Amino acid sequence: MDKFVVRGGNPLLGTIKVSGAKNSALPCMAAAILTADEVILENIPQVRDIETERKLLESMGAEVELGYGRAQHRTSIKCAVLSDPVAKYEIVKTMRASSLVLGPLIARTGIARVAMPGGCAIGGRPIDLHIAALEKMGATITYDHGYLEARTDRLKGAHIVFDKITVTGTEDILMAATLAEGETILENCAREPEVTDLAALLIAMGAKIEGAGTSTIKIQGASSLHGARYRINPDRIEAGTFLIAGAITGGDLNIDCCDPTHLGSIIAKLEQAGVRLDIGTDSIRVRSEGSKTEGGLKAVDVTTEEYPGFPTDMQAQYMAFSTQCEGTSTITENIFENRFMHVNELIRMGANITVSGRTATVRGKSPLQSAAVMCSDLRASAALVLAAMIADGESILDRVYHMDRGYERLEEKLRGVGAQIRRMGDVFGKR
Ligand code: EPZ
Repeated sequence: MDKFVVRGGNPLLGTIKVSGAKNSALPCMAAAILTADEVILENIPQVRDIETERKLLESMGAEVELGYGRAQHRTSIKCAVLSDPVAKYEIVKTMRASSLVLGPLIARTGIARVAMPGGCAIGGRPIDLHIAALEKMGATITYDHGYLEARTDRLKGAHIVFDKITVTGTEDILMAATLAEGETILENCAREPEVTDLAALLIAMGAKIEGAGTSTIKIQGASSLHGARYRINPDRIEAGTFLIAGAITGGDLNIDCCDPTHLGSIIAKLEQAGVRLDIGTDSIRVRSEGSKTEGGLKAVDVTTEEYPGFPTDMQAQYMAFSTQCEGTSTITENIFENRFMHVNELIRMGANITVSGRTATVRGKSPLQSAAVMCSDLRASAALVLAAMIADGESILDRVYHMDRGYERLEEKLRGVGAQIRRMGDVFGKR
């Protein structure tokens, strides 16, 4: 099982490139199910979840090419024949976002069997809102030995108000509605850039969609969609992670190929804390020297909210940042019920953090010490890399396979700007 070895103390200097957004690529790959034509997606990140999605689509009968070399991080997907419209448990259990095939499958074929995703480290991850919406569109849902089966002659447009804001729920039903009979109105939708990214692909495939990126989306169902070629947005969470890396290592880092307009809440918090940012059109320069507060970084509270609020996927990384800020900051996690697993590992590195319910209180500034630590989930792993890069000495991070799910060649990118980080153990993808 791979480990990272990280020696702290090096400022990050130079330019680091952001990859395509995993959480855009996953729904966009699932959208290819909606047509028999070829769908080509560019700027696909080379991460494990994409490989999992490829296995999932191929297991259903899709032809999937996935290339990162000269092919410029591109995938070509052709779902001419979906011989086995089943998302099998052994794949779904490794990636709950597999539920994103549910809507497209039933819309395209009239039948879908999807293993119930079950929970994951950060929470229960139910899909009841996806199911309620599909039932309202005329699907008959039954449950059978851990699988959900959805059947319909043809989905019908409906007026759906999501009880809670759900990103993949919005994406799943948006995809289903593109082939439904008549008009679908979705209210209380997620407004994440990944939803907007998916809608742009669907429109390129011939779908009739208005309002993506707002709380209300209107879709006019079509009888079929055609293929398209589309370039995925940059990963805003990877970019945010690098912003914090530049801020806490005392560096001068240029984060390239990002979209600053997707990072508003993160930029606002870091600037409030005294980080010096120069915002470009597709890059951001982060410097610690010349920070606005002469006494270093200042503690600032954060509450995670749906977009455009502060993203839950940046909460762990922000907590690592807060350990380096003077004063007391509170970090409240409103989205997931169990997303503080990085806390105890940070405490073992010398952080001063207490947790009460959904709020963590961080007292800084704490000098961090290197330690052997355990990664528990994708973003907690990123927080531990950040902490290890400023800790005194050499840290060993175990179970970095969590990291490989959503960060492309993280150790290479960080080494490229001066971090002392290397991977021990199997080479990615050989496991
Ligand atoms: C997406 O997960 C992202 N994953 C997550 O990123 C991200 O943390 C999350 O949105 C919130 O922004 C992908 O896009 C692949 P939700 P998703 O449905 O869609 C509850 C990462 O690190 N809920 O918006 O599964 C749910 O329990 C991952 O890249 C229901 O109750 O999240 C949660 O409390 C982690 N019923 C809240 O809504 C449902 O049917 C928000 O979940 C669906 C969701």
